[in-house]
Amino acid sequence: MSHATTYNDKVVRQFAVMTVIWGIVGMLVGVIIAAQLIWPDLTMGISWLSYGRLRPLHTNAVIFAFGGSALFATSYYCVQRTCHARLFSNALASFTFWGWQAVIVGAAITLPLGLTMGKEYAELIWPLAILIALVWVAYAIVFFGTIVKRQVKHIYVANWFFGAFILTVAVLHIVNNLAMPATLTHSYPIYSGTVDAMVQWWYGHNAVGFFLTAGFLGMMYYFVPKQAGRPVYSYRLSIVHFWSLIAIYMWAGPHHLHYTALPDWVQTLGMVFSLMLLAPSWGGMINGIMTLSGAWHKLRTDPILRFMIVALSFYGMSTFEGPMMSIKTVNALSHYTDWTIGHVHSGALGWVAMISIGSLYSLFPRLLGLPSMYSTRLIEWHFWTSTIGTVLYIVAMWIAGVMQGLMWRTFNDDGTLTYTFIEVLKLTEPFYLLRLLGGVIFLSGMFIMLYNLIKTWQMAPASEREVPVRAPAHA
Ligand code: HEM
Ligand code: HEM
Repeated sequence: MSHATTYNDKVVRQFAVMTVIWGIVGMLVGVIIAAQLIWPDLTMGISWLSYGRLRPLHTNAVIFAFGGSALFATSYYCVQRTCHARLFSNALASFTFWGWQAVIVGAAITLPLGLTMGKEYAELIWPLAILIALVWVAYAIVFFGTIVKRQVKHIYVANWFFGAFILTVAVLHIVNNLAMPATLTHSYPIYSGTVDAMVQWWYGHNAVGFFLTAGFLGMMYYFVPKQAGRPVYSYRLSIVHFWSLIAIYMWAGPHHLHYTALPDWVQTLGMVFSLMLLAPSWGGMINGIMTLSGAWHKLRTDPILRFMIVALSFYGMSTFEGPMMSIKTVNALSHYTDWTIGHVHSGALGWVAMISIGSLYSLFPRLLGLPSMYSTRLIEWHFWTSTIGTVLYIVAMWIAGVMQGLMWRTFNDDGTLTYTFIEVLKLTEPFYLLRLLGGVIFLSGMFIMLYNLIKTWQMAPASEREVPVRAPAHA
């Protein structure tokens, strides 16, 4: 950058720090609910600490507070560097930060009180849903406004993914939340019956596809090449991968409604599109991992890069597993079991959390004007706690899930069930303990990250901590 443009890094820094904080909060709630599944009386019957209320608090905190803050931080950072332009509007950017935090605090109050719309991943009551819509519109204006202002002709591939994520989430959120308010805290959806279920899972699956996937692929396309010091492996593959992902994801939602009142052909359509999704998903994984070709040796010394490559491997694994689980006969076994929970967390911990953590370690020193984090050794420790924690979690859930599915469908000759529900539950208990252990190990890594961040922060020159950073030479 030749001229004296300064980037708005204040908002990036705010979101980046909150990512770590909300990560700890959300995962702590995850650990508590994992413990409640072993010791149901853990929270002594206090209604607002009951499993049913804390579970949506966990999902909202990890997906929207932790994942969302990571996406805001990295997209704002990336769009400025790759467009050689400052964010479109400081005021709107600041509104997205404070508005998003207000939504999170609103969720943390209403969900434990039991105020919910009752739709998974869209639980928040209508006033909060409206605030989300406002923040999201502001986000879109800031992001696309910056793209319009860009000083370079080309729009870097990471921005396509961030852009698709922002646009799609706006549409999903608004359509799925259309409701008629009855009181301040209660509303009725405009859809009913099977149509309501179908809209909900069109939303739910695309929340996975665009919130938990496309946005994080944007992160991958910026930070993996940056950290590896290599260009993206294949530009052509990134184009094919982008458009096929966008085109196919939209149709896969019905795999959440197999063997329900949804017309059979719609279920089959969902299954076929889910199977096709394997191709673009693996295209993205290959593009990310192969970006390291010629730089593989860096993996030995750089734990940040290792975070990213392991994240991509988990992405590949969960996007292989997902299409398999969408096959109706496989789903007949996996649905309602802990296999689903294992699949969720191989995507959530292995992919979403690990790519975010890796990107943040890459981002923090750049934001603070430092060559690296306070301690690389602590990043190394964090890498191992994340990897071991994820593996323990998902292996425990796979074994428990397949065991549950098989036991539930075992019949005696006279047609009665061979195993009672309580027998299956007893056998599941050791695996719940193992999952809890995995969760505690993963969470401990987040505390290591917080400590490393505080130490890094203290090393930074005071000027870098408060005022917007002057654009550095690397763009
Ligand atoms: C320390 C880490 C974590 C622990 C211990 C944990 C634990 C749990 C537990 C116990 C459940 C409920 C399972 C059930 O109902 O049987 C759950 C659900 C869920 N968690 Fe986590 N979690 C962690 C991290 C995360 C992260 C980082 C994400 C997302 C980025 C995430 C996303 C979800 C989702 C989406 C569900 C709902 C799954 C479904 O309904 O099928 N979790 N988690
Ligand atoms: C090609 C990609 C994928 C396909 C085809 C796919 C398919 C599936 C299927 C068939 C289910 C089980 C539905 C059920 O029985 O209820 C499922 C559940 C789920 N998947 Fe995936 N999956 C994919 C990738 C991912 C990724 C990368 C993530 C996370 C980052 C993820 C998160 C989830 C969540 C949160 C659920 C639980 C939804 C719920 O019932 O609450 N999936 N997925």
